[in-house]
Amino acid sequence: MKYRIAWLPGDGIGADVMEAARLVLDRIGLEAEYVPADIGWEFWRQEGEPLPQRTIDVLRNTTCALFGAITSKPKDEAERELRPELRGRGLAYRSPIVRLRQMFDLYCNLRPCKAYPANPLNYRDDIDLVVVRENTEGLYAGVEFRPFEGEVRAALEKHSPAMARFKDVPPDDIAISARVITRRGASRIVRSAFEYARRCDYKTVTLVEKPNVLRETSGLMVEAGRTVAAEYPGIQFWVTNIDAQMMWLLKNPRDYGVLVTSNMFGDILSDLCAQLVGGLGFASSGNIGESYAVFEPTHGSAPKYAGQHKVNPMAMLLAVKLMLDWLGEAGKAQALEAAIAGLVQEGRVRTYDMGGINSTLEVAEAVANRLKG
Ligand code: NAI
Ligand code: MG
Repeated sequence: MKYRIAWLPGDGIGADVMEAARLVLDRIGLEAEYVPADIGWEFWRQEGEPLPQRTIDVLRNTTCALFGAITSKPKDEAERELRPELRGRGLAYRSPIVRLRQMFDLYCNLRPCKAYPANPLNYRDDIDLVVVRENTEGLYAGVEFRPFEGEVRAALEKHSPAMARFKDVPPDDIAISARVITRRGASRIVRSAFEYARRCDYKTVTLVEKPNVLRETSGLMVEAGRTVAAEYPGIQFWVTNIDAQMMWLLKNPRDYGVLVTSNMFGDILSDLCAQLVGGLGFASSGNIGESYAVFEPTHGSAPKYAGQHKVNPMAMLLAVKLMLDWLGEAGKAQALEAAIAGLVQEGRVRTYDMGGINSTLEVAEAVANRLKG
């Protein structure tokens, strides 16, 4: 087999949409072996570990991974749902997908948002945006403190005049999060954005930050961004502020092409962009590093629909399309996208979110049937 693909359905509708993905992949004739691996809530409950070591080993021995969705719950609930023997041991639930991004250095979160013609969920037609989000640094790097005391507090109070206002706040009543931006991280994410723009023929790359307020962190993003942009004279480089950009995206979504930003801004921006072109049922993403990648729909496990084969498989199928692109299977990727666009345009086979009555697998089957003709 040409490829070994880790197969991670996870929880809830993750399994439903992965079934749809498999149906389409089998019809597309990808030369691949699919290696199932455990991830998600069940493994947290049974083993106290939602991302078991055996799964990490599978990932290390595969070309890339397809991931469905997982359930996660707040701290207290997570503790309560553990198998009795595991309770009270100080086990902490950590998001497996965030860990995978950090462990495999999957720094580029790629989220194309295209308005396929005649999708009743489109905010407007002709929207074709791509959000490139930094996936390993920023406010989600995990450098947080509470209680805020001791050496960390003393150092910040000594070196930052801005801390003076918080001098009298008790340690447990103040929390601190570090927004970590490195030149390497900033440069490589902006480079990913430009490479994508060049490969897929987008005319602009917009770096969305807040450099007038976040002078050091956003400032470094912009500085690194300008250096990279100079290497791509054929593509326009714009720098905007995150708040204004959200308004402009609602006002003139067709004015933009590739948008690149840091981790948390990208999380927010990509959800807005997804909603412009069909919402969770259409939002796919790739988590891409130098040598490994994980592809997923961005929706969660939607427990109320679990196992009902009711939800829209398009987000998952678009994630498969991203995977095919990454594997270098451009012909198959294009064929799949054309089949999806064709089915949306025809409008006869649709899941509930698009106003239809068809099941997850009926939609997948209809996409698969279009692959031949
Ligand atoms: P969710 O994305 O699972 O579902 C929210 C609602 O969106 C659903 O009730 C449904 O109405 C709609 N929806 C989601 N996917 C759809 C699809 N493919 N087709 C049509 N409609 C769809 O978000 P929610 O309810 O906030 O979270 C449920 C669980 O999923 C939680 O435990 C949460 O932590 C987890 N989650 C996991 C993610 C992941 O695995 N990447 C991402 C987001 C949430
Ligand atoms: Mg998000």
